[in-house]
Amino acid sequence: MTTIQMSVRPEDLSRVPQGHERIPDAGLLVIFGASGDLTKRKLMPALFHLEQTGLLPGNFAIVGVARRPLGGEFAADMRAGIVAFGGVEASDPKLDDFVGRISYFALKFDDPSDYAGLKAELERIDKDRGIAGHRLFYLATAPEFFAGIIENLGAQGMAQPEQGQTAVVIEKPFGHDLESARELNRQVNAVFQESQVFRIDHYLGKETVQNILVFRFANGIFEPIWNRNYIDHMQITAAETLGIEGRGPFYEKAGALRDVVQNHMMELLSFVTMEPPSSFEAESVRREKVKVWRAIPPIPILNAVRGQYGPGVVDGQRVVGYRDEERVNPESGTETYAALRLEIENWRWAGVPIYLRAGKRLKKQATEISIQFKQPPLLIFNRMAASSPCQEIQPNLLTIRIQPDEGIALRFGAKVPTSPNMDVCPVNMDFDYAAAFGKSSANGYERLLLDAMLGDQTLFSHRDGVETTWALYTPILEAWAAKRPEVFPNYFAGKWGPECSDRLLERDGRAWRNDLGRKA
Ligand code: BG6
Repeated sequence: MTTIQMSVRPEDLSRVPQGHERIPDAGLLVIFGASGDLTKRKLMPALFHLEQTGLLPGNFAIVGVARRPLGGEFAADMRAGIVAFGGVEASDPKLDDFVGRISYFALKFDDPSDYAGLKAELERIDKDRGIAGHRLFYLATAPEFFAGIIENLGAQGMAQPEQGQTAVVIEKPFGHDLESARELNRQVNAVFQESQVFRIDHYLGKETVQNILVFRFANGIFEPIWNRNYIDHMQITAAETLGIEGRGPFYEKAGALRDVVQNHMMELLSFVTMEPPSSFEAESVRREKVKVWRAIPPIPILNAVRGQYGPGVVDGQRVVGYRDEERVNPESGTETYAALRLEIENWRWAGVPIYLRAGKRLKKQATEISIQFKQPPLLIFNRMAASSPCQEIQPNLLTIRIQPDEGIALRFGAKVPTSPNMDVCPVNMDFDYAAAFGKSSANGYERLLLDAMLGDQTLFSHRDGVETTWALYTPILEAWAAKRPEVFPNYFAGKWGPECSDRLLERDGRAWRNDLGRKA
């Protein structure tokens, strides 16, 4: 396929105002579960990038909280993480000062008597650094500790202090079904007001995800055709070549539907289908998201399929099947792949099927949204010579590449030059983020950490939102739990998932798009 590149003119880029970023006043970031991978691989590199770009206040400090007695080792380990996972030079002149602001406090999450000591320690750091009581508590522990930590913070008066702004960031998973999400919301809101609660979904921090809103609502030409009159169907794919990366016990309880569909994929779906919010502010954006999620009728169980990978070859490497992964039940019924067909019952989308699929150990690493438009009403050029390079006219396709190869492509038909038969060949107009702007997107946490420190909830989930998405998926999870899958594993690692997933689309006379990624 021929591709036309699209670029940004340097003079346009130079007109984007610089230096208008908001910087929080001061802050003490307290990370619970700080000895886990997330802190070292994602949070610390993101915080250091904020420091490098001058977006952290001078009076800022980080306290890691976990069970192990780590002491000074912790800061050293975080430095190593920033260098290894943040693409930072070990000799970076800002690194020493930054690491000097990291400390550690050992605490048993479920032991109330440890929290008085934590409070005293935070007050000491606050005073030393002139932080004026501005605190962000970040819960990155196993989810079973969330409620206890929140209750203990409340009991110590740390949730509603007399001085400064306090907020809590809660990592996913937020509950494991509707009932548990409701209960957690109740526990959280008994201690923190909703305006202090930041339920994080790192997908919302991705530039390409935020760009969906810019693409739709900062351009006049797409919105008029963004509806059932012009769109045939949509496919949203989150395909990973990775397996479960040593997270057996977590994944055994989660599975693909809980791990990525109920949260990340639903966020993508909402951005691509919601009505234009009246402003880019938390309340308006959240209201529109919940409205579109609520317009999804219950998904018939026949429209939800699951899979589990067996052994296979991924990126040229032999890999074991899910059941042979470390700390996984050898007879596990957990799904590592899920696909669904759903519809949105509103005036914009009625009758437009939306297909979602997410899986581990698939053929290619790619998160993409593809929007297929309807064919023209009359195909006057669809009479190809046998020698034609293109067998039939392909419908227009808009592809939003969330990652990797971040960008957007529009496929349309063009006349093959010199062809006497008016042969039509698909070509691509391709916008590539890295080529146009010279930088690839950050890991998502930078923007979200900064927003949480600034108290901006636009890119975080509201309690109604999480309950709505859980309400949609809980019946499927229950039906799956009640009936063990007949044939698991049902796809080879390195392939495109189970056959039942193909049939989900075949029933509608469609097929999954498997040529994901940028067309060079
Ligand atoms: C996490 C899931 O939330 O998202 C992982 O727990 C998954 O299983 C990851 O691999 C995907 O995130 P990203 O940013 O790599 O697409």
